[in-house]
Amino acid sequence: MRADLIIHSIGQLVTPGSQPQRGGQLGTLTVLRDAALAVRDGLVADLGPAARIRAQWQAPQELDAEGMVAIPGFVDPHTHALYCGDRAAEFELRVQGKSYLEIMAAGGGIMATVRRVRAASLQELVAETLPRLQAMLAHGTTTAEIKTGYGLETASELKMLAAWLELDRATPLELVPTFLGAHALPEEFRHDPQAYVDLVAEEMLPQVKEWWQEHAAGRPLPFVDVFCEQGAFDLAQTRRILTRARQLGYPLKVHADEFEPLGGTLLAVELGAASADHLVHTPPDQIAILGRSSTVAVALPCTPFGLAEREYTPAQQILARDGLLALATDLNPGTAWCESMQFPLALACRFMGLTPAQALCAATINAAAALKMAGRVGSLQPGMQADLALLEVPDYRHLGYRFGTNLVAMVVKKGRVVWPR
Ligand code: NIG
Ligand code: FE
Repeated sequence: MRADLIIHSIGQLVTPGSQPQRGGQLGTLTVLRDAALAVRDGLVADLGPAARIRAQWQAPQELDAEGMVAIPGFVDPHTHALYCGDRAAEFELRVQGKSYLEIMAAGGGIMATVRRVRAASLQELVAETLPRLQAMLAHGTTTAEIKTGYGLETASELKMLAAWLELDRATPLELVPTFLGAHALPEEFRHDPQAYVDLVAEEMLPQVKEWWQEHAAGRPLPFVDVFCEQGAFDLAQTRRILTRARQLGYPLKVHADEFEPLGGTLLAVELGAASADHLVHTPPDQIAILGRSSTVAVALPCTPFGLAEREYTPAQQILARDGLLALATDLNPGTAWCESMQFPLALACRFMGLTPAQALCAATINAAAALKMAGRVGSLQPGMQADLALLEVPDYRHLGYRFGTNLVAMVVKKGRVVWPR
């Protein structure tokens, strides 16, 4: 049979199956030694022992993996990668003892980035974000979510969506957008939070939908997310925005229980959200309810690490309750400027008790489920996208074990080598 590309001499080809993995199943991997993979039309056509693939498939192009480990490209299901500027001065304050929520209450934090993004042109926003996306790709991420939420006024939120669209077209990285108009209360609404909630629900959500129909018609609607947290949006405000979003047909996500348990996780389950993210302080009874749902728990271990906090998402409880656990970077300028999915894997192995196999499945097939893409990305199976990373290691368990250097030597997206370029 005819393929477009055969990748051969793969030392270990390591992949989850095509279904998200719940609770005790997390970490179920197939490991094929001396393997090959055939690509046709950007999709995996076949994979298996090199001898069989070579006997059954011919291709005009071959790629010698030189004994490297092949894994599905990472799916990063929670990023705030779209921004301008940095918050290095704030980091210095935090190291000296100020807390994230104190800095935010004093008008810094998310609002500091909002001021930069509002002042930036579309082209500046695109140009500053592009190198981060290239770094993500170079570290093995082939699909990533990207949130708005540094505009916090209709025009600037739409500018962020326009930047998403340009970046999605400009890079091989596949970008899945989320509208996060309710990321923080902008300072001009400090004395009237309800008016901002009304603006998000009654003006922004309908306008984002109009923008979508004009600029991105045919693509599934973006996710809508709310930062449900003390100092951001309370449970009633979160409910108001997400209920409206659901009426308009948007799929949902929630930032829940990062610092204080306000009930965001239960709301995510009740509204059928695709994911509830952070979940550092989720009470046990809510973890049990989450475990019976199809809402994915997205853990973001770079965030407590970035804030030098000791508590991480209670992954073992989530798994004991049969939950669907995924990992993401949370890449953002405040708490976690980290482009590499390899680092949250390393943290999850140490502070959440995951094995390398569990961390890998959480960062691929389950991360895809958090983006409602599990049928297409996050696994190397016939019919799924040929999105993969080649690791220059002798065994896949070097993932998680090693950290601080890039283990990825080559990245393939939809059957094309996209890094190194
Ligand atoms: O996920 N929690 C809210 N948002 C980000 C932080 C964003 C920022 O500080 O700029 C987070 O941690
Ligand atoms: Fe976040």
